[in-house]
Amino acid sequence: MAKAVREHLIKALANGGFVSGQELGDQLNISRTAISKHVKMLIDMGLDIYSVTGKGYKLAQPLDLLRKDEILRLLPTEILPCEVEVHNLIDSTNSYLMRRLPNQVTQGQVCLAEYQSAGRGRRGRQWISPFGSQIYLSMYWYLEQGLSAAMGLSLVTALAVSDAIYSLTNVQVQLKWPNDIYLGGVKLAGILIDLEGQALEPSHSVIGIGLNLNMPVQAAEKIDQRWTDLQSHSQSKINRNALSAQLIHHLLKRLHQHQHKGLSAMLDEWHARDFYLNKPVKLLTGDNVTRGVCRGVNNQGALLLEVDGYTKAIYGGEVSLRGDE
Ligand code: ATP
Ligand code: BTN
Repeated sequence: MAKAVREHLIKALANGGFVSGQELGDQLNISRTAISKHVKMLIDMGLDIYSVTGKGYKLAQPLDLLRKDEILRLLPTEILPCEVEVHNLIDSTNSYLMRRLPNQVTQGQVCLAEYQSAGRGRRGRQWISPFGSQIYLSMYWYLEQGLSAAMGLSLVTALAVSDAIYSLTNVQVQLKWPNDIYLGGVKLAGILIDLEGQALEPSHSVIGIGLNLNMPVQAAEKIDQRWTDLQSHSQSKINRNALSAQLIHHLLKRLHQHQHKGLSAMLDEWHARDFYLNKPVKLLTGDNVTRGVCRGVNNQGALLLEVDGYTKAIYGGEVSLRGDE
């Protein structure tokens, strides 16, 4: 019910005109006080709404909302037709597709949302997801060869995100093993891979991308590490539908490349974009800290860490990589 009311308010306000509380209350059959509570919730979600006595509510700027028809129109014709859903309000685009396993998803199916109430990062961390200004995109990908084929998926996705950004804006980002996209030395985007299945049996993956495009001030205050957003690095206004289409296109392209040729075909590209390549790093595993030099990644997507002259492969999991200046 609350979700339906908020969806209605978003649609009523989207074009940037004034809408009176009374009018909204009549349309929804609820009181003006109830309307004002829902408007307050929308403001907390990141919408910049103000009110003027006698006129009603208004957005500071019209919304530049994601549109399924526009995203499909902007997808290059040579790619597979894939299912695209655009939601206004969702808990998490990854959780949404995971709930649809195994029979209600198709290969390459995409879920995008304007707002996530429970956006997830790795290991239960929160992904701050304000309304209408960033990109939250998930794609379902079937792994015929089982979970072993999932190794490297986050690297493949990171390459795809950097391809998409470059093709649309000419901005060159850098990649941090295993799941981060950096720009100007700080986090621009993150990748979350959810998996279901057995090692040697056909399995399911949901690939999630959270990309900062226009970070609202209020949301920025909630992020506890340094970050940036893409619009701050581009002279011209970035079209959110075009960026979404590029992400889908390049992700499908890289996933097919991975399926047919494996990660080894992409290693040179990874190393050219690797933020920490040949730099001193520390690897955090719980309370343990291992210091070494980053030597890139291997064919399976493991981090190559040189410690005391020996290079060992680190296969992901509960580890975090940091610079060690
Ligand atoms: P690592 O992946 O190396 O463990 P990380 O700190 O980047 O490091 P992640 O789980 O990848 O951890 O990302 C989640 C973290 O990202 C959150 O704990 C928060 O600090 C930060 N974060 C949350 N939302 C955003 C956002 N919109 N933009 C940038 N950073 C964010
Ligand atoms: C990270 O850096 O830890 C990964 C962040 C991934 C965020 C994206 S937003 C779309 C998808 N849905 C989620 O709940 N998380 C991912």
